[in-house]
Amino acid sequence: MQPADRLARRRHPLRSSAVRDLLADAHRPGMISLAGGLPAADLFDSEVFSTLAADLLANSPQEALQYGLTAGQPRLQAAVRALVKDRGIVAPPSDPLITTGSQQAIDLLARAFIEPGDTVVMERPSYLAALQVFSLVDAEVLGVPTDEHGMCLPLPAGPALARAKLVYTVTNFANPSGVTMSRERRLALLRWAVANRVFVVEDDPYGELRFGGRPVPALVTLAAEVPGASDWCGYVSTLSKILAPGLRVGFALLPEWVRARIEQIKQAMDLHTSTLCQELAARYLETGRLTGFLERARTLYGERCEALSVSLRAQLGARVRFNRPEGGLFLWAELEPGIDTSLLLARARELGVIFVPGAAFFADSGPRNALRLSFSSADPTQLHEAVRRLRTALDAGGLTP
Ligand SMILES: Cc1ncc(COP(=O)(O)O)c(C=O)c1O
Repeated sequence: MQPADRLARRRHPLRSSAVRDLLADAHRPGMISLAGGLPAADLFDSEVFSTLAADLLANSPQEALQYGLTAGQPRLQAAVRALVKDRGIVAPPSDPLITTGSQQAIDLLARAFIEPGDTVVMERPSYLAALQVFSLVDAEVLGVPTDEHGMCLPLPAGPALARAKLVYTVTNFANPSGVTMSRERRLALLRWAVANRVFVVEDDPYGELRFGGRPVPALVTLAAEVPGASDWCGYVSTLSKILAPGLRVGFALLPEWVRARIEQIKQAMDLHTSTLCQELAARYLETGRLTGFLERARTLYGERCEALSVSLRAQLGARVRFNRPEGGLFLWAELEPGIDTSLLLARARELGVIFVPGAAFFADSGPRNALRLSFSSADPTQLHEAVRRLRTALDAGGLTP
């Protein structure tokens, strides 16, 4: 018996995240990374954070360094209420529950709802780390195809759907597809959730990073239009993409019957999210600087998305298909059928560019010719060069398995 045989057996083999595995490569000299979903580091408001942190530790050490409440620091909860009000969520289902990144909120929901063999309905392709979380609780994932309006409805009837306990959806500029779910689909999904008594969680890290088109209301807002729906949907979000992921501050707005259970589970998991980070985040949000920060972020990402799209069109022409996202950090592309993007990645890496092969975002087998390109961390000149390197890798041929 090997020592590792003593570890718990799982229904599904644990997969390492293709994205996190690539992060180490991103730091190689000369490498251009279109792989991670990292916010642009040049945007970080580090001087203001530095002043706020010094003031916090000098003047309020008991708030920053002491244990706190599981639900979160009241000062941050108030700041989050104001933040979501600006997103049109004027009557949240409950007080915000502060989590250690939105990743923890997804984990908590999975633990609260899923018993082995229960089904989680997700978009296809899906956010990779949510797939990992649902695999850890031995959920079956029912992947639903998406088109330009989001998750396709009606959901595919059958035994898997009959066992559904949770729908998990990234409604705005989804990771990895870049797609936003339309208002009509959101309303239809809510009607289905009420009729079938299945809880829908909307994960919205990217909604504020809109650089084109018009915002669509959150499910918890639209729930007012569907009788009974406010009991069957929740909203999860984060400061990671709009401010700084290192804070590890996320939050969840949930109906009371879900929130109470989640809070108990969180208590067992980590007692509470770092008080230091919460107090710092609260003070930053209170400065009112987020509005200007977001304007800069939207402009920067809009320019970068444009630069990547133009380069793809100019350099790869009909060899690539993609839809231009109206926000977020990702562009989803498909190459000619038959091309295997994991073979392309191996070659592209040698040429100094990395991306995530599309197959990583599917619970089962996905298309081999798709890839996720993140435009957040490279400037337009680097993006142009990255596409040139991709073309060189493609031109060499031999990418069909
Ligand atoms: C769709 C989605 N949800 C959640 C997260 C997790 O974010 P965090 O835990 O940093 O809040 C990410 C990060 O990439 C994401 O893309």
